[in-house]
Amino acid sequence: MPYIMRISSQKGGVGKTTVAVNLAVSLQRRGYRTLLIDADTANPSVGFHLGMTNVNVGFKNLVKKEAQLKDFISIHAPSGLHTICGTIDSKPFTISEENAKTIYSKIKNTNYAFVIVDTQPGFTTDYIAKVYDEAILITTPEDTAVASIIRLAHSFDKIHLKHHLVINKIGRHKYELHPKEIEEAYEGKAIGMLPEDEIVPMSIAEHIPAVMLSKRAKFSQATVALAETYSAMSEYTPDEGISKVSFWNRLWSLFKRR
Ligand SMILES: Nc1ncnc2c1ncn2[C@@H]1O[C@H](COP(=O)(O)OP(=O)(O)OP(=O)(O)O)[C@@H](O)[C@H]1O
Ligand SMILES: [Mg+2]
Repeated sequence: MPYIMRISSQKGGVGKTTVAVNLAVSLQRRGYRTLLIDADTANPSVGFHLGMTNVNVGFKNLVKKEAQLKDFISIHAPSGLHTICGTIDSKPFTISEENAKTIYSKIKNTNYAFVIVDTQPGFTTDYIAKVYDEAILITTPEDTAVASIIRLAHSFDKIHLKHHLVINKIGRHKYELHPKEIEEAYEGKAIGMLPEDEIVPMSIAEHIPAVMLSKRAKFSQATVALAETYSAMSEYTPDEGISKVSFWNRLWSLFKRR
């Protein structure tokens, strides 16, 4: 069974999608079969990060009982990552308990090592949160983001959902909270500390994940370190074959772009 992780925050714009995409690509490139799902049905943006804006199927399509997961998966050729991008339409989408069960039973019955689910900001209903193995809580070093992440952590504690903290956009500015202050408030160590880095907006504009655009960038190095932490915790052994395929795919895509 895959290890299903939810990327969460109550506050918007803290870097959930950025972390979800770059962590998923990093795990895939380490040889772990990974599926990235854009479950932000209000503002799906995984497709922009991956250069896959032409994909027009997504999370919502899985609600139908007869829908097969494999029919909605696209492959990000440069990395080999499997993804279910979002669909953009004007109708609001609220997931019922029955729909949540239908979707997640399909996800659980796959042979991915990791499934990473990017979500929209806000509180989460119990029946949705319960289907995950873990939530990665993303905060920035600001009071407003930290206060809301602490509330979310408490609500996940109540339903016994394991969570880890990632601090993003650390700029070491005087006005920022120090990572230690954030860890004290959270009552636990952060599993990842990601710097503020211009590679991120650049990578979104280029539609190439930061970890692929520049290995040397500080954000990329910190994200790869986060992926290493998760791979060390994983019960799966990396599949050597995946990395080789990804390399040739990547080369092919580079030629195609020129
Ligand atoms: N480490 C970083 N350094 C610099 N900029 C960053 C970093 N992480 C994210 N950003 C920028 O912050 C903005 C929001 O990022 P992102 O879309 O990933 O957040 P989000 O939490 O998914 O937002 P939403 O709640 O709207 O879904 C983007 O413009 C992105 O370029
Ligand atoms: Mg997002």
